[in-house]
Amino acid sequence: MKTLQLQLRFLIPLLVSLVIAALVVLPLMDQLTLRWFSRDLNTRGTAVANALSDSLEDALASGSAQRLQMLIERAARDERLVAIALCSGTNQLLRHSAAFPPSLSCAESKRVAREPEQRLELRTGAVHVGVFALNPERSNGASVVLLHDLSFVERRSQDTRQYLIAFIVVLGFVIALVTVVVAQLSWRGWVSGMNAILRGEGLIRPFLPPPELQPVASEVRARLRDLEDEFRRSQELVMVWDPERLRALLHTQLRGDQVIVVSNREPYLHEHTDQGIVVRRPASGLVTAVEPVMRACSGTWIAHGSGGADRDVVDTHDRIGVPPESPEYHLRRIWLTEQEEQGYYYGFANEGMWPLCHVAHVRPVFRESDWEQYRIVNQRFADAVVQEARREDPVVLVQDYHFALLPQMIAEKLPRATILTFWHIPWPNPESFGICPWRKEILQGMLGSTILGFHTRFHCKNFIETVDRYLEARIEHEHSSISFQGSETLIESYPISIEWPTQAEVESWPAVAECRRRVFERMQLPPDTCLAVGVDRFDYTKGILERLRAVEGLLERYPQWRGKFVFVQVAAPTRAALDEYRNFRDRIQLATDRINQRFGTQGYQPVHLLIEHHGREQINELFRAAQMCVVTSLHDGMNLVSKEFVAARDDEQGVLILSRFAGAARELTEALIVNPYHVEESADALHRAATMPPAEQRERMASLRMTVREYNVYRWAGRMLADAGRWRLRARIEARVQRHADGPTRPA
Ligand code: G6P
Repeated sequence: MKTLQLQLRFLIPLLVSLVIAALVVLPLMDQLTLRWFSRDLNTRGTAVANALSDSLEDALASGSAQRLQMLIERAARDERLVAIALCSGTNQLLRHSAAFPPSLSCAESKRVAREPEQRLELRTGAVHVGVFALNPERSNGASVVLLHDLSFVERRSQDTRQYLIAFIVVLGFVIALVTVVVAQLSWRGWVSGMNAILRGEGLIRPFLPPPELQPVASEVRARLRDLEDEFRRSQELVMVWDPERLRALLHTQLRGDQVIVVSNREPYLHEHTDQGIVVRRPASGLVTAVEPVMRACSGTWIAHGSGGADRDVVDTHDRIGVPPESPEYHLRRIWLTEQEEQGYYYGFANEGMWPLCHVAHVRPVFRESDWEQYRIVNQRFADAVVQEARREDPVVLVQDYHFALLPQMIAEKLPRATILTFWHIPWPNPESFGICPWRKEILQGMLGSTILGFHTRFHCKNFIETVDRYLEARIEHEHSSISFQGSETLIESYPISIEWPTQAEVESWPAVAECRRRVFERMQLPPDTCLAVGVDRFDYTKGILERLRAVEGLLERYPQWRGKFVFVQVAAPTRAALDEYRNFRDRIQLATDRINQRFGTQGYQPVHLLIEHHGREQINELFRAAQMCVVTSLHDGMNLVSKEFVAARDDEQGVLILSRFAGAARELTEALIVNPYHVEESADALHRAATMPPAEQRERMASLRMTVREYNVYRWAGRMLADAGRWRLRARIEARVQRHADGPTRPA
């Protein structure tokens, strides 16, 4: 009898949760999935229609029915497209691909496309109907009808449904178990257990699995983890990331916890000038990416105060609200002595770690005295984090190779902090890393992180292999985690990006033609010049020399460009106190002079080298004026210049030439990808970019823009913070289970 009662108590909650899922969650989810996909298909449809529009309009104007038909048939070969039709302004069906249903008229297509779900049932299955207008002046109001296959949506929706059902069954199972155990304890225990469940924190608290249930419990945990991964992957496909979404995530998943960022470079520098104190934004990919995230999170950013007037503007706690025009978060400045800056920043970080990780054929230099300063400065920043922490469990975002030791130092003082370390530069293979005399200390320091992020899976793999080679650690390849000295670190790839410009921002930019006019006038270029630009810090990893050789190669191999092709290289001065950087600058200057002497004429200079810091607006103007942007890094974690160029081209024109050794090459596949060490290949790419027809430029650029807009910096931060949120939740749950397991009493 007692067993029956127990079974009932077990089964009823399970059944109730299943019924709720079937009645409420599943239909809602179906509806949502359809809407998301419908939105995606519309975006995709716009891209297809844009790519087709020029050719269709030309064919319409020429009245060539055969060409129209050919264009339509060719476009309909896309595997997701069921059929395409072309309708006139008066709703006459002008042309259509073979599979276009004979019963479907233009008027009917437009009616369905206006419905919220845009769905039509055909004999062959469901389709999504989208109608996209062509340029009315060139096409007499014609429009393109695209029928997209919806069967894959149904398939995906079915998959998600199955996962959800599995998730709910497991959840129901856990709830049922909890209920049984609690019911065994006492009625009061049951009530308080339910209260705890209602508060959303009691699922595990009353659950003290007897030893025989331990395997089931760990099985459930493992399954939950898999489901969580699956859920995360499906979410990543559809979510639009923006500041609001990031803020919402902080409030829901991290319960508004305090966020502290630590980096060497500060987001704003104050400098003395003849006009008084001015604020400057440094040239740094890290700053470009992290700043918008900080504005959304309103936390505290700790960084080295390196501006000449920095001390004059902070309060008594060395803090200042930034951005200066309307403060949204705090910048806490740390002052370094000359000896500290020399040893930690110039020495260990930039003469040691930087070349070590980039493998760009510049030898790393390691000095014991630099290492000493590196440790001291890391400790000083760790102390600052502890001072700034308002609670014992803040979320700390540690940035880059300047702070490899910081995660462990913070974890020692704040063991409940969640430490997310992001390594903005590449991670080399174990052999290359092995030459660092303090390799073990560096790895141990980094493994103080809760989550350690790199731009690409490839760098994660290199890191895991390096740990495997040099430390006694347990590596779980399946979950990409490393357990070392009792704590676990998740190693994950988070490709960094930029903030996608808002509509208002784009509208405030001068038109492309105006940018071109201003730049051409300033540089005194004839109107038929083909303008290429490169924008970098003046760093030997950026492949500037290889780029100049490619320009020289272009002028040699394609003499028609002599007098017509101009390359402008903006090079922001950086780390100029180091010999390697000064020598590099001299080499670039010599190469520039050589090319200009060889190919320059009266009034024509093929290479313009602008060695000065340029503001965002100036760079944007240059990007919009250029025919192409050339990024030829010899090795680069990501390279945000390539993404900024794409964001600047709302006219969908311009060509990106991108090194295959930049992390960005894995995402921006529609760029012309080159091996910068291969001069002739790069020269050919310059020629191809210079002669690329506008329609191809549009097709490539539209696709690049879609990628960068979607995979923006809020997604980068959001994915990392969401992982941190889940990690914290699991840690809380495990701590509770542990407390109970260690506790003096166990239920009978
Ligand atoms: C790279 C590094 C950043 C650094 C930036 C500028 O992007 O990953 O950490 O801020 O270069 O270098 P700098 O030495 O001037 O800060």
